[in-house]
Amino acid sequence: MLKALRGTKDILPADAALWQFIESSARDIFAIYDYKEIRTPVIEEASLFIRSIGNATDIVQKEMYVFSDRGERSIALRPEATASIVRAYLENSLGQEKAVTKLFYIGPMFRSERPQKGRQRQFHQLGVEAIGSDNPLLDVEVISLAARIMRALGIKDFNLNINSLGCQKDKANIIEKRRKAVKPYLNSLCDECKERYNKNVLRIFDCKNAGCRKIAEGIESDNLLCSDCAGHFEAVKKGLKVIGINFIVDPKIVRGLDYYTKTVFEVTQKDLGAKDAICAGGRYNSLIEEMGGKDTPAVGFAFGIERMILSLEKDRHLIKPELDVFFAVTGEGMHEKAFQLMNNLRDKGLSCDIDYDEKSLKAQMRMAEKLGARSVIIFGEDEIKREKVSLRDMLKREQKEVDLKDIVEEIKANSKKGAISC
Ligand code: HAM
Repeated sequence: MLKALRGTKDILPADAALWQFIESSARDIFAIYDYKEIRTPVIEEASLFIRSIGNATDIVQKEMYVFSDRGERSIALRPEATASIVRAYLENSLGQEKAVTKLFYIGPMFRSERPQKGRQRQFHQLGVEAIGSDNPLLDVEVISLAARIMRALGIKDFNLNINSLGCQKDKANIIEKRRKAVKPYLNSLCDECKERYNKNVLRIFDCKNAGCRKIAEGIESDNLLCSDCAGHFEAVKKGLKVIGINFIVDPKIVRGLDYYTKTVFEVTQKDLGAKDAICAGGRYNSLIEEMGGKDTPAVGFAFGIERMILSLEKDRHLIKPELDVFFAVTGEGMHEKAFQLMNNLRDKGLSCDIDYDEKSLKAQMRMAEKLGARSVIIFGEDEIKREKVSLRDMLKREQKEVDLKDIVEEIKANSKKGAISC
C-alpha cells in the first residue's frame, strides 16, 4: 500500500478543528497588530536560501530539498519563509507603501531532518516579518505578538529566552572570541562541531551533543556588544518589562540561520522538552541590503504549528466538532421532504447533516452525538402532516414539538447555548 513519505503527515478531519482554531486565533491577533497576510511560492531558486540562510548552515548543507527542474534550474522547496518574504518585498517594492511593512504568513516548509516527535520533513510555520525599522519597540511588538498568540491558545509553561548578537561588526567579534575560547577543546568536540569550528563556530553553542553542550556551558559569554547594540538590547528588555512579558537573557542563543543581527529569541515549552523551540526569531538588519535592497532593518519570528499542537495535546478534548442540526428521519419516503427542509436551513446559513443510510432512530441519535449536533430534528410523517417537527436540544437533553415556521429561530437559540469555548 502506498504511504505518506517519511516525515510528512496527513492532517485528518479529526485534527483539522485544532489546526483551524490555531490559525484563526493567530489571524485575529495578527489583525489586532495590523499585520497583513503574504503568501509566497513553496518553490524558489535555491540560491535565495543559500545566500540568505548561509552556505555553512545545517539547513543549507544538509536539510534543504534541492532539485533541478526541466530547465536545469536549481530549485529548492522553501525551508523557511523569511528569505522568500524578503525576495517578495524587494521584487514587489512593498516598502513604498508604508514606513514599516508588517506581514504574516502561514504555510508548509520543508527540511530533510531526521523525523521525531515535533520534527518533520514537511512541517508548518506561522510567523510575522516587520520590515523597515530598527526601533527596539518593534522587537517588543513582535515578541509580544508571539506571547499573545500563546496566551490566546492557552499554551502555558513557556520560557522566552532572548539574546543580542549585535551588529555585523559585533557578530564578527563574538565569532572570533568564541573561536579562541573553543580552540583548547577542539579534540573533544563531536565530528560535526569540529567542522563547525571553521565554518560556523557559533553553532557549536547550540549543538545537541552532551559533550559539546558541556564544553559550551563552561565557556564564559563575554558581552561584546558595541554601545549602540548594547543600548538597543537594553531598550528591548525595558520594553518587555513595561508590558509585563517575562524573559530570560540567555547569551548562548545563537540561532541556526546566518542572517540574524541584534535581538534573537527562542520560546521553549515544557511539553516539548528544553531542546526544541515552539517559536523562534529575531532581527535581520543586514539581510535586505545583502539581497540587493536598500539598508532596511527588519525583525520577525516563526512558530512551528506541529509543536503548537503538541503543547495543546492535553487540551484537545476541548475542541469538539460542531453542527447546528442533524436530521433524524423516521418513516417511509420521508427522506426527500427532510432533504428539502435541510436545504432551506442551509440557505439560512445553518450547518446541517442527515443520515443517508436509513439507520434506526437510535443509531441516528448516536451519529448526531458524534457529529457534535446542537439540535436534532426528528422528522416523522405524523408531525409533518401537522406542519411540525420534534426538536431535541442535545445540550439540555429536552425535546419539544416546534412549528415549522419557527424552526430556524429555535435551532439558532440552541446553537447559541452550546457555543464552544476553548
Ligand atoms: P527556525 O528556528 O528555523 O526559524 O524555525 C522556527 C520554528 O519552526 C522552530 O522554532 C520550530 O518550532 C519550527 N520548526 C523548524 N524546523 C522544524 C521541523 N523540522 N519540524 C517541525 N517544526 C520545525 C525560522 O524558520 C526563521 N525563518 C524564523 C524567523 C522569522 N526569523 C525571523 N523571522
